[in-house]
Amino acid sequence: MLRWTDPYTTMDDKWRSQFVCLDDFETRSSELLPQRTWVYYSSGAGDEDTLRENRDAFRRYWLKPRVLRDVSVRDMSTTVLGEKIDMPICISPTAFHGLAHPEGEIATCKAAADMKTLMILSAGSTTSLEDITAARPTSAKWQDIYFWPDRTATRDMVKRAEIAGFKAIVVTVDIPEIGSRRKHIQVFGKSLQPLQPGMQLKNLKKYMNQSSDSIDDGKQFAKSDNRSTWRDIAWLKTMTTLPIVLKGILTVEDAILAAEHHVQAIMVSNHGARQLDSVPATIDVLSEIVAAVGDKLEVYVDGGVRTGTDVLKALALGARAVFIGRPVLFGLACNGEEGVKAVLHILREELSTAMALTGCSRLRDISRDLVTTKSCWSKL
Ligand code: FNR
Ligand code: LAC
Repeated sequence: MLRWTDPYTTMDDKWRSQFVCLDDFETRSSELLPQRTWVYYSSGAGDEDTLRENRDAFRRYWLKPRVLRDVSVRDMSTTVLGEKIDMPICISPTAFHGLAHPEGEIATCKAAADMKTLMILSAGSTTSLEDITAARPTSAKWQDIYFWPDRTATRDMVKRAEIAGFKAIVVTVDIPEIGSRRKHIQVFGKSLQPLQPGMQLKNLKKYMNQSSDSIDDGKQFAKSDNRSTWRDIAWLKTMTTLPIVLKGILTVEDAILAAEHHVQAIMVSNHGARQLDSVPATIDVLSEIVAAVGDKLEVYVDGGVRTGTDVLKALALGARAVFIGRPVLFGLACNGEEGVKAVLHILREELSTAMALTGCSRLRDISRDLVTTKSCWSKL
């Protein structure tokens, strides 16, 4: 339901007409970005089987539309951990937005705020969390953290996030080591980092050595302490009252452990297929996880969401909201803040259309029986 002037309507028509779907931003980014940035953003781990699967799997679910229901008004608004947002489409944390556009995460944050949705700021951002708050003091934002070997750095970032008005802590739990990213090794060598000298991990700078812009110093902050365990979740809970989201859950077993550790939400994620190749597409494990813990905590999903029907399928399979990673980076690369707004606008409009065509006017109308698979049809 549009309750404000959509910023997309004021954008230049000539520019808008070049981008009709999210894939258009990806194609254009591959032409615009320096090769090392393109490789860093776009590639996955290993043979990239999971990278392809994250998208292909959505295509194996089909929709069963209902007709003759009044869909004249569509309301896509919802809440995530109590935060009101205008659509169930939010922004996953991705590192180094400064590589895509000089305004980096500031542009992303403004776009999210104007589109009335939520952004998770990566721990590896090229903008400090304090600068995000200064740019948009009341925008909906959560902070991504890792369990770094120096836990005082983790604790300090949590405290900074609390002071700066971030509303939840998102712990990335799927990165005890960086995945085997062959294309990164080809392009950056051992450093596995695309940063140019001079570009800084501003959110982490204060915890790093004097030569804070050196590539090797940055590397240790891109992963968690590989000794971290569920005890660290208990530790985190003792030092913050902010809700905690565990990002990177792929099994029912770990989802149950998350619920037992009383975190408030989990994100079903395979880190955009950048960590362990050969894990399933997130959409394929979503419904069993929702069945196991959906009554105890909020469940979100990311990975390969590129169309409004992808969003609709994820919601039907039980996600409270979906998150997008790469499309935001590609929107930024194509046109900074306006590009990110356009990405969010297109996805929201596609969701709105898909809802109308399946007979849904509110998110609660999107039920499990909206989706099917070919194997179900063949039994008919
Ligand atoms: C990521 N991702 C990520 N996740 C995280 O928890 N902290 C981070 O700093 C990053 N950094 C990052 C950088 C880049 C370039 C990419 C592509 C991804 C993973 C991200 O949050 C998300 O899980 C995936 O990007 C979702 O998949 P899609 O939407 O990119 O297909
Ligand atoms: C990545 C890290 C930063 O996926 O999470 O590149």
